[in-house]
Order: sequence, then C-alpha cells, then structure tokens
Amino acid sequence: MNASLLAAAPWWRPDTGDTLVIRGGQPLVGTYPISGAKNAVLPLMVSALLTPHLVTLHNVPANLDVAVLSSLLQRLGCEMHWSSTSAGLSVTISADRLEPRGIDGDLVARMRASVLLLGALLARCGEARLPLPGGDAIGRRAIDFHLAGLRAMGATVKLDGGVVQATAPAGLRGADIRLPLPSVGATENLLLAAVLADGTTTIRNAAREPEIADLAACLIAMGGKVSGLGTHELSIEGAQRLAGAVHAVLPDRIEFGTLACAAAITDGELCLPHGRVDLLGAAGASFNAMGVDFSETPDGVVARRARPGLSGIDITTGPYPGFATDLQAPVMALLATAAGASAVSETIFEQRFRHVDELVRMGASIAVRGRTALVRGVDRLQGAAVIGTDVRAAAALVIAGLGACGETRLGGLDHLDRGYDRLVRKLALCGADIVRLP
Ligand code: UD1
Repeated sequence: MNASLLAAAPWWRPDTGDTLVIRGGQPLVGTYPISGAKNAVLPLMVSALLTPHLVTLHNVPANLDVAVLSSLLQRLGCEMHWSSTSAGLSVTISADRLEPRGIDGDLVARMRASVLLLGALLARCGEARLPLPGGDAIGRRAIDFHLAGLRAMGATVKLDGGVVQATAPAGLRGADIRLPLPSVGATENLLLAAVLADGTTTIRNAAREPEIADLAACLIAMGGKVSGLGTHELSIEGAQRLAGAVHAVLPDRIEFGTLACAAAITDGELCLPHGRVDLLGAAGASFNAMGVDFSETPDGVVARRARPGLSGIDITTGPYPGFATDLQAPVMALLATAAGASAVSETIFEQRFRHVDELVRMGASIAVRGRTALVRGVDRLQGAAVIGTDVRAAAALVIAGLGACGETRLGGLDHLDRGYDRLVRKLALCGADIVRLP
C-alpha cells in the first residue's frame, strides 16, 4: 500500500511510530502556517478528471488523504507531477487518457471523498464502478443523495455486492435536483457531473461550505458555467468540454480553528499565516464568546486566550455558515477546561462523540444525553493513554494533551495523518513537547 502511495505522491513521508507522546503544559508560541484545505483539495483533484488538459493546483496540503487520492487517480490513468517550493506543494494533473475501471477498492475503503469519482467519471467517460467508500466512523454516512441526483441526470446506477455500478452511455443530461439535506459531498458530486452534462442543472438546498465555492471557482476557470456560488441554489449550464486551469487551494478553516484551540488551551500565542477568520462562519463568534481572541497582523492571524480566561458556551453544529461539525471535537477539548458549563449539540453526524470517553479518561467532566454533550469545565486535564477514532477526534486529543499535566499517549495516528499537514513538526516548532514513537 505504502509503495503505491509513494509512487503517486513522492512527498508523502509517513512518520514512523504509531504513538504520539505529548508532555503537556507548555504554552505554544510561534508561527504555524495554515495549509490548503483538505476538504477543498480532494474535490479539486477530482475535477482534473473532467478535462484532457492540465490542471495545476497550488497550496496542496501534504496529508494522507491527498496521497491516497493521488494513488487512486494514478490507477485511473492520470499523470501527476509534483513540485515543492517555499510557498508549498503543487501538483499538475493530466487526465489525458482515463481507464475508468482502474479503481482500487482498498484505497476507496480508506477515504470517503473517493465517492466524488462517481460524478466526474460518469461525466467524462459515461461509466464508473466504485466500491462503497470508507472514511471516518462517525455515523451512517449514506450516499443515497449522490445516487438519486446522478439518476435524475439520466445515469443508470446499480448497487451490487457493495459496489456501485453507474453508466450513462449517451451522456448525462441537466436536471432539477433538490437535496433532502445540504450534503457537502452530494453537492460536489453533482456539480462535478453537471459541468459536462447536456443542458442546465439546478441543485437546490445545496451545501454552502466555502470548499464548494472553491471547487466552483476552479470549474469556472476551466470554462464551466456555474452560478449561485455561496448560495443554496447552484445553477450549472453543461459544457461540451473543459479546458485546463491553475488554481490555489483555499486555506483550511478547520486546521485554523484547531490551532486556535491549541493556542488557547496552553495559554500561548500562535501566529497562523493564511488563517481566515471570515471562513469560520458561526464558529468565529463562538470562539470570541469562549474567550479566544483573534487579531489580524501583517504576518497572519494571531490567536490567544482572552485575558478574563475561557468560559463555557453552548454550541450546536450545523451546515455552513453554522458551527462546523469538524470543529466540534477540538472545541470540546477546549471547553473541558473552560469555566462553567457548556452544552455541545451535534446535528450533522449521529456518532460524533467518540472522543468524549477519551477526554473523560483525561479527567474531563462530560456526560452525553442523546445528541448533546454536557461539559463541566475542570481546572486541568491529566495526561492518559487515549485513542483517536476519527480525524477530528484525534485532533481534539492532541489539543487536550497539549493542555494537560503529564504525559498523553495517543494512538490512532492514521486519522491524524489523513487530515493534518505535518502537525507534529509544526507544533514542535511552536514549543510543544511532542514526539512520535513506535
Ligand atoms: C463533508 C466533509 C466532512 C464534514 C461534512 C459536514 C469532506 C471530504 N468531508 O463530509 O469533513 O464533516 O462534510 O460538514 O469534505 N447524508 C445522507 N445521504 C447522502 C449524503 C449525506 O444521508 O447521500 C447525510 C450524512 O449521513 C450526514 C449528513 O448528510 O449525516 C451530512 O453529510 P455530508 O455533508 O454529505 O458530509 P460529507 O460530504 O460526507
């Protein structure tokens, strides 16, 4: 597996060791550059399948999901050319010749976003065959909206033994689609399919996450006709063919929020170049209410704990611009040591409290009632042996470990690698006592 990842993404240097040892209590001080967004780069890489011309992406985050998707694209016949400068990682993808049957089931099982290959391959090749995707264990994560939308566009979609078989030999046609929920993945999949469909597609109740507008911006640069960016209604006029494009990936708002939590829990001060408060949506106001200050400087946003200290608040996750579910776990780690009580309600995924037991192991006082976690702030967390069960749960435990007394030993590091670009190295440069050990 690692050999195929290295062939497709030669920059991928998996850190050895499957335990992260953190000795907490050091204030984090320094500069932590925010990478391109994981959730933006994956659909952007898939958009390269829509054209035989070159698509170049700058500001690509060096994480495991990008390496896995690179390997999937290579198996589909894409050529990937990587370059690395002080400004970050760039990739040029050539999908001149595609082999739509080349999908590797093991790789798909590792990454939920591989479902986006369906829309793009159907649009470009008229067929796609994909084992049901894997990813984080945070709930059911059905793909029924994706499949219903593709069927509305004229595709024949069958589910057989855990494999999705989709065909549209005469091409896709525009359709009027209303999503039952504003699903991020379904909006992206249907957008990718619609740009090469015959006629106009309307996606109603579309998700409005900034990563979707970033994808639409790249598709427009390729000659696609998309309007309604940032609204609940996207209109896409299908084109016969698309050109190549050069696009810089949007900064990662979740990495930014995660690092703001790390600065605040350690009572440190982090300068976060490329971090964007305006992309946080409702989470921006929640950070202020909790006692996390942001100040814009010429070098980047500086995040620190406000002088009166951290205080508990109530949070309910929701589709953008609501409070991002991906920040729920990291923020809960911070609230675990905030004064007073907090109620954290999760409305997007049904099993996204698996970090709670681990935080409790570290001395947090948290009780789960249905979809709400009631957090009573304690003075200090204590280091413990804990496991990250998904990418954001693992990040939450890193934050908890950085703020805790004593030693935290974190397992489940594959999850962390999936979503965070060189997290351990970047934290160590800001003074964290953190190492990865066998
Ligand atoms: C994306 C993000 C993930 C984020 C999530 C919500 C990527 C790679 N991942 O995931 O980090 O947490 O958005 O902001 O961008 N649903 C269905 N049927 C479907 C599709 C979705 O029932 O066909 C449900 C899901 O089970 C979930 C909800 O809709 O309860 C939202 O899921 P969705 O927005 O699709 O999340 P993802 O695209 O998987």
